[in-house]
This record gives sequence, C-alpha cells and structure tokens, in this order.
Amino acid sequence: MDVFVTGGTGAIGRYAVPALIAAGHRVSGLARSDAAAAALTLAGATPVRVSLFDVEALTSAFAGCDAVANLASALPATATFAFHSSWRECLKIRSEGSAAVVDAALAAGVPRVVQESVVMLYADGGDDWLDESSPVDEYPISRGNHAAEASARRFTESGGVGTVLRFGLFYGVGAAHSEEIMAMARRHLGFVAGRSDAYQSSIHLADAADAVVAALGVPAGTYNVVDDEPLTKAANADALAAAVGRRRWVTGPGRAAVALGDRTTSLTRSLRVSNERSRTGAGWSPRYASVREGYAQMAAASR
Ligand SMILES: NC(=O)c1ccc[n+]([C@@H]2O[C@H](COP(=O)([O-])OP(=O)(O)OC[C@H]3O[C@@H](n4cnc5c(N)ncnc54)[C@H](OP(=O)(O)O)[C@@H]3O)[C@@H](O)[C@H]2O)c1
Repeated sequence: MDVFVTGGTGAIGRYAVPALIAAGHRVSGLARSDAAAAALTLAGATPVRVSLFDVEALTSAFAGCDAVANLASALPATATFAFHSSWRECLKIRSEGSAAVVDAALAAGVPRVVQESVVMLYADGGDDWLDESSPVDEYPISRGNHAAEASARRFTESGGVGTVLRFGLFYGVGAAHSEEIMAMARRHLGFVAGRSDAYQSSIHLADAADAVVAALGVPAGTYNVVDDEPLTKAANADALAAAVGRRRWVTGPGRAAVALGDRTTSLTRSLRVSNERSRTGAGWSPRYASVREGYAQMAAASR
C-alpha cells in the first residue's frame, strides 16, 4: 500500500515508519523541518513538506495514497504536563489537524484513515476490565482526543474506513517520559501517580507500531492497543526497578497526584484495559506481554 504518515518523526512514528516499510508498504511522511525530512529519508520514507492544517496542500500530498495514518501530536514535557496551557498545541493538532486530515483524505479519495487516540479516555474502572464499549470520560485535556476520534468517525460516515487506535501509556527507547522514569528508577526512585493498587495499561512503542501496520487491514472502528497484562501502579514501579536492577527506596507522587484533579487524571485513574478486539479483529498481538518484559528490553537497549 501507499501510506501517508503524519507524526512519523515522533515517539510512535519513529517505530511505525520502519515497521510499515518492513511490511512492504511505501511510506510518505509529513515533514515540518529539514531535520524531520532527513530523518524520514533515513528511515526509508519520502518526506513531504506540508502543513497539517492546510487541507488543500494535504489533499495534493494524499493523492494516490491507500491510507493515511495520523500520528501527529504534541504532548507537553513532564515538567509542564499538569498545566492546561501546555496542551494548547496538542489540542489544535488533535482537533483542527485531525479534521484537516479527514477533509483532505475525503477530497483525495483515500479509502482509509488510521487515527491515534489513548485509553486514558476511559472512565476509571477500578479493578474491572475495560473494553471498547466501556464508558469514556470528558475532561479538559481529553478534548483533543475526543475531537480526533470524532473526525475518524466522520470519515467512516462519509464512506471511508476510519480506524481509531486507543494506545495505552507508551514506553520504550524514544518515549521521553518513560526514559525519565527509568533514569529515576536507576536512582532508586519509583514513580506511582495515584493509588498504588490502581491499574495502568501500557504499550511498548514497537508493539504500538505493529498495531499501526495491522490497522491497515481492519474494519472501521475503535481498537485498544495495550499489552496483555496491565499491572497495578505499584507492580509497574517494581517491574521498572527490577529491569534496572535497583530496589525502590522512595516512591512518589502517589495520592498527591490525585489532588491535582483533572490536570493529572489521565495518569491517576485506574485503567485495566483489554486488547481482545485488537487480538481477534486485527490479528495483532504484543511481543511484550507486560511491562516486565518490555522494561527489560528497554533497560537492555538503553544501557
Ligand atoms: N501517550 C502517552 O503514553 C504519553 C503520556 C505522557 C507523556 N508522553 C510523552 O510525550 C512525548 C511526546 O509524545 P508525542 O507523541 O506528543 O510527541 P512526539 O513523540 O514528539 O511526536 C510528535 C509527532 O507529531 C509531529 N508534530 C508535532 N506538532 C506538529 C504539527 N504542528 N504539525 C505536524 N506535525 C506535528 C512531530 O513532528 P516534528 O518532528 O516536526 O516535531 C512528531 O512527528 C513522548 O516522548 C512521550 O514520552 C506520552
């Protein structure tokens, strides 16, 4: 297939572009800078200098493509994650950018759009398993994800195949926040946001990339992309400590993070998310069943 990727130089994109090429697809990618264009070329993709918000230019760029994978986003750095103002660019990309991608894909006659989203949209499920039919939640930083998902649904309603991939908290070499908490674990510091017995659903970047490839062959709809065994936040921190061969001496921010309310709710809520639909419907399965295996790979790769 001819696949156009946005966000091809990002955390997931840097894994997804090579995975698409390895699967036999021809990839073009949106480049905002010379550095991004060079990175895409190095990965084997064709860079295209175009704005995510320019429907006319996107329509030309998408001509002849069989699919568009919209992986662009701009999450704030860890230090500013809790400030609503830091999410402005991300909100714009996910709302206006996703709408422009869908408008252009429709205008260019592209049959398929894959849109990234996150499992943090689900309401806190406690110990219960959550699937794609579980209730979602509205809070300020989720507005962009809801808008992006609505754009993908609009694409399907207009006759295309719109697929939403709800990724778990991603980690791996290249995911800045996970590199930061791994560096903390090497200094005996554990990261637990919220209750230690709350669940966290995660996904290794390599498995997220494989899901993007698998999404090119699935019916329209929403698919959770998470590993097989979500751990509690305490078990997750222990898995990270074990991966770097250190004991956890100090752990934070714990329940203090809950006090920040909707600013940190995407990290503090309990999400025990099932990947059953992706396994059966997309023929996808994660190579890292849980963060125990994934963190071990990441620790070895970053040593
Ligand atoms: N979802 C999670 O699991 C989660 C949770 C917390 C923190 N994080 C962290 O957040 C970090 C950032 O993640 P991310 O995926 O937002 O960013 P990222 O990894 O930096 O990737 C963003 C991608 O979108 C592109 N992009 C950004 N702004 C754009 C625009 N205006 N127009 C077109 N393309 C644009 C970037 O292109 P350029 O190369 O041109 O910039 C890049 O390819 C990750 O490293 C991760 O550690 C992730």
